Amino acid sequence: MRHDEWVRRDAAVVWHGFTQMAAYAENRPVVVERAEGRELIDVEGRRYLDAISSLWVTTLGHCVPELDDAVRAQLARGAHTTMLGNGNRTVVELSEALARVVPVDDPHFLYASDGACAVEQALKIAWQFWVNRGEPRRTFLAFGGAYHGDTIGALSLGDGGFGTEIFDPLRFAVLRAPGFDDPACFDVAASMVAAHAGELAAVVVEPLVQGAAGMRVADPADLARLGEACRAHGVLLVCDEVATGFGRTGTLFASQQCGLRPDLLCLGKGLTAGYLAMSATVASGPVFDAFLGEDLGPRTLYHGHSYGGNALAAAVALRHLELIEAWDVLANVRERSAELRGLLDDRVAPHPAVREVRLCGLMGGVELAPPREGLRWGRRVCAAAVDRGVLLRPLGDVVVLVPPLTVTSREVHRIVDVLAAAIDETAGTP
Ligand SMILES: Cc1ncc(COP(=O)(O)O)c(C=O)c1O
Repeated sequence: MRHDEWVRRDAAVVWHGFTQMAAYAENRPVVVERAEGRELIDVEGRRYLDAISSLWVTTLGHCVPELDDAVRAQLARGAHTTMLGNGNRTVVELSEALARVVPVDDPHFLYASDGACAVEQALKIAWQFWVNRGEPRRTFLAFGGAYHGDTIGALSLGDGGFGTEIFDPLRFAVLRAPGFDDPACFDVAASMVAAHAGELAAVVVEPLVQGAAGMRVADPADLARLGEACRAHGVLLVCDEVATGFGRTGTLFASQQCGLRPDLLCLGKGLTAGYLAMSATVASGPVFDAFLGEDLGPRTLYHGHSYGGNALAAAVALRHLELIEAWDVLANVRERSAELRGLLDDRVAPHPAVREVRLCGLMGGVELAPPREGLRWGRRVCAAAVDRGVLLRPLGDVVVLVPPLTVTSREVHRIVDVLAAAIDETAGTP
């Protein structure tokens, strides 16, 4: 069956996220039949380099034999058993392995399925932490440009945009510091923490890189100062590492580069190497302890998702952690990042159609400079890249570059070649 026929069947029954379905078919979507290594293969056999890691989740690649084996082995032991009031051996083993590497003191793991759920859990835990201590607090502090997911709580923390204004009446108010594009944002945030300490349940931040804001990169020293302000004023720090976790920024967690030890840490996306839906909220020992009390008593966290702690996901996440170390994946991230930086600086940044290039590890954004609004350059550059066999997806007029962490030097060159050609084509310079 041809591509067009698959698109027709798709559009007839599937509702795609963040997608205007009336325009879905016109935008020439890729309909994947299978994936292999770092490539996706569509229903007509065309291959695409997955330079967005399937929306930032794929770390080692697709169909990695070692990860496939881990899923198969767990399948034979049961795909899922509930974590509500009961345990599962694979989940215990995963949690022990994660406990050795997360930048959280005496960590405890509450699992869910998607990043937004991990953030919701962090909000509820932070809120109830203060209630359990008998000192309720009324608000949170978040940053301009923040994105923490699409559920209502996560949306409230987020700075809006993406057409979400219609939900404003449902969003609860938070204190908002400026975004990472303002060099003073951390000083302002630190003084807001000092001024509102008694009413702030937590500060929530994407450490090092604000991803959905268009890959805005911060100085680790600034984040360290924010962490100190939270500690000094007794405000909980929540680090949302849904996007930055598991090696994306060149260390296993971005918080490590900033010297941060958050009270709550949100994990998702790369946790299972991009294989299965799993996220986690990691609570420090002191936060966890505030919930201990009598059985069925009011200090209990009454929260839990049906598929939280899914055993198949846990098995692949556990194997993933081992492979990151065994394959020295972080070294590859750092080397390919330096290479990508050099190529972008030479070939892309000087282009008159480019406003700025931002990169941290293998999280990159190329901000285009369209001469006027409404030209949809981001979408058009990405479409031109897809025509050339490299799958890219924009955030507005920022072309996002988030290749798998095992990307090779040749593939990095190919991404930049294709991106440069796509920009030339779109901006009209041959
Ligand atoms: C920093 C951050 N937090 C949370 C989320 C939401 O994750 P999910 O899409 O898995 O719900 C995202 C998604 O891009 C993210 O970048």
